[in-house]
Amino acid sequence: MCGIVGYIGPRKAYPIIIEGLKRLEYRGYDSAGIALFDGKDLKVSKTKGKVADLEAQVEKEITTTGNVGIGHTRWATHGVPNDVNSHPHVSNSGNLVIIHNGIIENYESLKLELISRGYTFKSDTDTEVLVNLIEEIQKQDNLKLGKAVQVALNQVIGAYAIAVFDKNKPEEIVVARLGSPLAIGIGDNDDEFFIASDASPFLEYTKNAVYLEDEEMAIIRFHKGIKIRKIKDDSVVETFVQELQINLEQIEKGGFDHFMLKEIHEQPKAITDTYRGRLLRNEAIIKMAGVEDNMKKFLNANRIIIVACGTSWHAGLVAEYIFEDLARIPVEVEYASEFRYRNPVINEDDVVIAISQSGETADTLAAIKLAKSKGAFVFGVCNVVGSSIARESDAGAYTHAGPEIGVASTKAFTTQITVLTLIALRLARAKGTISSSDFRTHLLELELIPKKVEKALESDDNIKVISKIYKDAKNFLYLGRGYNFPVALEGALKLKEISYIHAEGYPAAEMKHGPIALIDENMPIAVIATKKGHYEKVVSNIQEIKSRKGKIIGIVTEGDTQVRGLADHVIEVPETLESLSPLLTTIPLQLLSYHIAVMLDKNVDQPRNLAKSVTVE
Ligand code: M6R
Repeated sequence: MCGIVGYIGPRKAYPIIIEGLKRLEYRGYDSAGIALFDGKDLKVSKTKGKVADLEAQVEKEITTTGNVGIGHTRWATHGVPNDVNSHPHVSNSGNLVIIHNGIIENYESLKLELISRGYTFKSDTDTEVLVNLIEEIQKQDNLKLGKAVQVALNQVIGAYAIAVFDKNKPEEIVVARLGSPLAIGIGDNDDEFFIASDASPFLEYTKNAVYLEDEEMAIIRFHKGIKIRKIKDDSVVETFVQELQINLEQIEKGGFDHFMLKEIHEQPKAITDTYRGRLLRNEAIIKMAGVEDNMKKFLNANRIIIVACGTSWHAGLVAEYIFEDLARIPVEVEYASEFRYRNPVINEDDVVIAISQSGETADTLAAIKLAKSKGAFVFGVCNVVGSSIARESDAGAYTHAGPEIGVASTKAFTTQITVLTLIALRLARAKGTISSSDFRTHLLELELIPKKVEKALESDDNIKVISKIYKDAKNFLYLGRGYNFPVALEGALKLKEISYIHAEGYPAAEMKHGPIALIDENMPIAVIATKKGHYEKVVSNIQEIKSRKGKIIGIVTEGDTQVRGLADHVIEVPETLESLSPLLTTIPLQLLSYHIAVMLDKNVDQPRNLAKSVTVE
């Protein structure tokens, strides 16, 4: 969480940094700040609130000249979101300025030590401690900035991506990373450098980037290039410049009011991109290098353990059904945050699948490290290419969803299910647990899903009408069975996170074990009741709700009459195989939460208290 941006080069730094912060706002938006060097002095402006608030303030407060600067958009960890706790933080002398994404866990003891040496602190942040620690080391040992940063980081416990600037050395910026991402964009002729949490702030300036690895730092010098070293032992690291594959269009709204809506509508393409080149229907095969190369591991696995958080965890639950159903491999799905701390039994015959859109989620990353330390084989399913989880996994498969900017995950969910379905089908074929005709049917149906998602999206107007009726509800229930139970959980999460309406997802049949007590005429209940998969049982559950006067929104298969006769509203989705139905039933639930949130005037893309990639525990 938190977004960092920096620039050093011949251009004016301010517009690059402020626009860059806007693109990184998905990473945190509690407060924002900027530090610019105008050739003589440091100018700092920071404020609680969004980058737009900062922009309005900056122009009144400071001059925006200067070719070097750093900026930050914050997701608060230490210290409430207010002006003082906002980044950048300046050292006591006023010489050094820092931006930081991460947490310094031992900041309290370091702070006490610095206080005993006469340092004072304005904020409650761990970051202000770090900048003063660097200053103290620089002073004590008369060290250059890069060396002082390195010594300081060797005393620090925690996670960070930092950029540090010394106004007495205006031709350089020092950056470092451990556990939080950091990319460096390299301009032509090494005469300008961009620093950012991801490449989006500098896409229009350069396609060449270096991604720092954990425990690496870089000294970036105007006209002189970058030098990367290991923080621990100072060894030199070869600079590996990558050519970026994403373009600006992919990270813009493209005419939609919100990124979330754009991303919901991108799902047909995202799903196609995800199976393209992997699903070869004419040859009746699935080709996935990461699976082929490790087929023995998968086939000899005692069980598959899936670790993930949030929406990715819900995709893992869908995968549990499909792996067990088709490939007959036992699966356990774990919250990464619980798994990592509960001393789980893991051994070398386990395959761990880690699912993460961002590939940076701290709990999932820690779960992977734990599993690897016990000898398990780890397979990553990530969206962000080159992300920490992708790199830490033994093998993996990318979802090709394209950048997902809206904090509420949508296309990441359906593309994760697509990848996991492909893997399950490939393993089922290898194990002989699926007949060749069933296999072909699955391939055919999966290939038809994008068109069917397009059809499901056509219910938008109907969903808007339903949203208007229930937007003021205080609570919502979501029910589903089998493959669609995780979709009910996901529907409830979507509504909670962007509209702040309390919602719960349940397996439909569990309702009678407690939640049914909640039902009265004020309770809207979205029930997934598609034709394939326990349809009659779900219809009985709907009857139970109806007799208690609950308001029923049925997600049904096209042409359904039975639920239509019982429900207050129905939303149709095209027919497909039960195992693929989550790819369709989730669409109306995404739209329902989107429209309710818009009608309640909530910030859909940046819901309160959240951030897109959760790089803290
Ligand atoms: O990047 P990841 O997939 O690892 O993120 C996991 C969760 O933080 C994420 O899915 C979160 O629950 C979303 N806001 C849900 O919409």
